Amino acid sequence: MAASIPADMGKKGMEIVKADLKGVIKDLNTAYSDEWLAHFQYWYMAKWIKGMDADTLRSVLEKQSADELGHAGKLAERIIQLGGRPVAHPAHLLRWCGCGFKEPPSKRTDLDRVIKDVLQAEACAIEFYSKMAEKYRGTDLVTHEIFEDLLKDEVSDEEEWEAFQDSP
Ligand SMILES: [Fe+2]
Ligand SMILES: [Fe+2]
Repeated sequence: MAASIPADMGKKGMEIVKADLKGVIKDLNTAYSDEWLAHFQYWYMAKWIKGMDADTLRSVLEKQSADELGHAGKLAERIIQLGGRPVAHPAHLLRWCGCGFKEPPSKRTDLDRVIKDVLQAEACAIEFYSKMAEKYRGTDLVTHEIFEDLLKDEVSDEEEWEAFQDSP
């Protein structure tokens, strides 16, 4: 079935997509929404936090926030390639996301909460991306690979944050 918007991709590129297009675009939009929300959450927390160790966490938040935005970009490009439209209204990100959004702590020194919330977001992303990489392995190799790349990044993000959790 052709999508409503023409695909931004060549004939052969489209031909090798065996998965249901609407379904792939939907899954990609879920991931895209989660990435935008993670980007926002990490960016905000980097500005907000203060106290001992805040500077260490801040630099990691800034880096990962930029990485999540990069992930959103890769997902948007794939959605457009497949003839879909990335979620275009910020309010709709919350409707589309799969992992939800945790408002940053009201207390600026609550770094434990920050670590806990990031770890929760990363764990959710890891679970979703591992499911998605598996789901599209045989039906859409390009999408499969995007999910696999993102999965690798989130696995290393989680590792970085777990190290903070162990520190006194
Ligand atoms: Fe990400
Ligand atoms: Fe991440």
